[in-house]
Amino acid sequence: MYDFTPDPDLPVAERYRQLHDAADALTADERDPVANMANLAALIADFVPDLNWAGFYRVVDDREAPELVLGPFIGRPACIRIPFGRGVCGTAAATGETQLVMDVHAFPDHIACDAASRSELVVPVKLDGKVIAVIDLDSPTPARFALEDASGVEQLAQLIAARI
Ligand code: SME
Repeated sequence: MYDFTPDPDLPVAERYRQLHDAADALTADERDPVANMANLAALIADFVPDLNWAGFYRVVDDREAPELVLGPFIGRPACIRIPFGRGVCGTAAATGETQLVMDVHAFPDHIACDAASRSELVVPVKLDGKVIAVIDLDSPTPARFALEDASGVEQLAQLIAARI
């Protein structure tokens, strides 16, 4: 059994540090990207409080244009394909930049997968400078995510980019 359950009283930075250690330990010796993304989604849900959705969209380029396709996640069933440039996830994929959205209702092109979502953090995962996936976190609490969360998930993205 893997037991990485975090202490609820940990400061945010320490919580992300432990998430990084757990993610490293769980994925270091496994080559299967689906298994790694599945465990990473579960770890994020364990270590980051107050989420209603956490998981991956992968960049897939098997049609006329690259798009995001749903990957392993924790949460309610979600939209499967997102074109680059659409929604919060597609914006992160197209720009290569983290999207920190305090109020999803104020984001003009937000794609509602779970009506409970009020704020969202999407971080691109880059390998050799190219976006290969995004990590998407949704919260039912408005303005749930701060720069510390963005930085914690960006470090996670760097750590696991070659393992998914
Ligand atoms: N809200 C996202 C879509 C994905 S779900 O939140 C899981 C977006 O606007 O891209």
